[in-house]
Amino acid sequence: MRTPIIAGNWKMNKTPAEAKALVEELKPLVKDASATVVVCVPAIDIPAVAEAVKGSNIKLGAENVHFKESGAYTGEISAAMLKECGVEYVIIGHSERRTYFGETDETVNLRVKAAVAAGLTPIICVGEHKEEREAGYTDALVTYQTLIALTGLTDGEVASAVIAYEPVWAIGTGLTATDEQANETIGVIRKAIAGKYGCEVAEKVRIQYGGSMNPKNVKGLMAQKEIDGGLIGGASLKAPDFSLVVNFDK
Ligand code: PGA
Repeated sequence: MRTPIIAGNWKMNKTPAEAKALVEELKPLVKDASATVVVCVPAIDIPAVAEAVKGSNIKLGAENVHFKESGAYTGEISAAMLKECGVEYVIIGHSERRTYFGETDETVNLRVKAAVAAGLTPIICVGEHKEEREAGYTDALVTYQTLIALTGLTDGEVASAVIAYEPVWAIGTGLTATDEQANETIGVIRKAIAGKYGCEVAEKVRIQYGGSMNPKNVKGLMAQKEIDGGLIGGASLKAPDFSLVVNFDK
């Protein structure tokens, strides 16, 4: 059985002081969670959050990582820098990075490899735009995105990676994929992994749903066989809401 993983994606929200306050509020609310609990925070908040989560069950994540070890890449942050600050997870290839910052499947793969080499667990985002779903390309697209992102990893590294299936049309829009749509597409992703790495590996990979997941729809989504957790944007910015998502099984 896969342990569910619920991760907050704070995006460009919360100053370090606000970040600390949110984590302090969250800690008692999620302490009995059966899911793995992660908060992925802006880079500048990492030291404050690393300090705040000490001794709790909340794991620290980043929202991006550069693929080079070091060098002349002004403004970028390496996997080793994140690791040294206590980061364990890192979101890679979020649709906002793909849309606004020129992220491609190839750079996603480079980042995944750099993260894994440094001992970070990647949360790899894949998902289709509305027009792609309407044209019937969803399955082919998520298969392609997933397999490219994982290229070069060992079976063991693939097994411990996290994938987030996020239909782009559902992010921040209040629209959610139906429970069945999310389950079906996540099943397609797992099948693609099984085809390349074998069923045993595919059965271990945790695949989240993301896109307007909230306290109201979490139970239905998590009741689906293929869905192993969620990547939560808006609803992760308020401790009561995020804790209701985390405690979906209570
Ligand atoms: P949302 O964001 O929950 O606000 O839709 C999810 C995400 O972008 O990861």
